[in-house]
Amino acid sequence: MSLIIWIDAYSTGIAEVDGQHKKLVELINTLFDSITLKDRTPVLSQAFEELVNYTVFHFGKEEELMTRCAYPDIVNHKAEHRSFINEINKFKQEFASGDNKVMLKVINFLKDWLLNHIKGTDKKYVPHLQAKGCK
Ligand SMILES: [Fe+2]
Repeated sequence: MSLIIWIDAYSTGIAEVDGQHKKLVELINTLFDSITLKDRTPVLSQAFEELVNYTVFHFGKEEELMTRCAYPDIVNHKAEHRSFINEINKFKQEFASGDNKVMLKVINFLKDWLLNHIKGTDKKYVPHLQAKGCK
């Protein structure tokens, strides 16, 4: 069973953003599903790498959107993105040093962070974008 099931409460109503958030959820679910595999280390490191890369891509797109739409709270939003990237880079190092157990901790962190960020910080820019008719 999937770790995260997408529910409407996670939707921002902005198709591009929602599509990318769904992809992130799918990548976290893949990580979670891979944790029980027998030879999981290469699969986990590849899936984790993919998740990190896609997160960087998604943050870039979201920041572009907020810039284009002159979102006033962009500085704080970007700071949250940066601190998340710092956290996952630390986890990446821990995992690279051979500790497989770290992955469960990472997955829980990813899940909590992403869902809280989507429901809180991301949703805050929605009314601004809607008011400006900007997507
Ligand atoms: Fe965001």
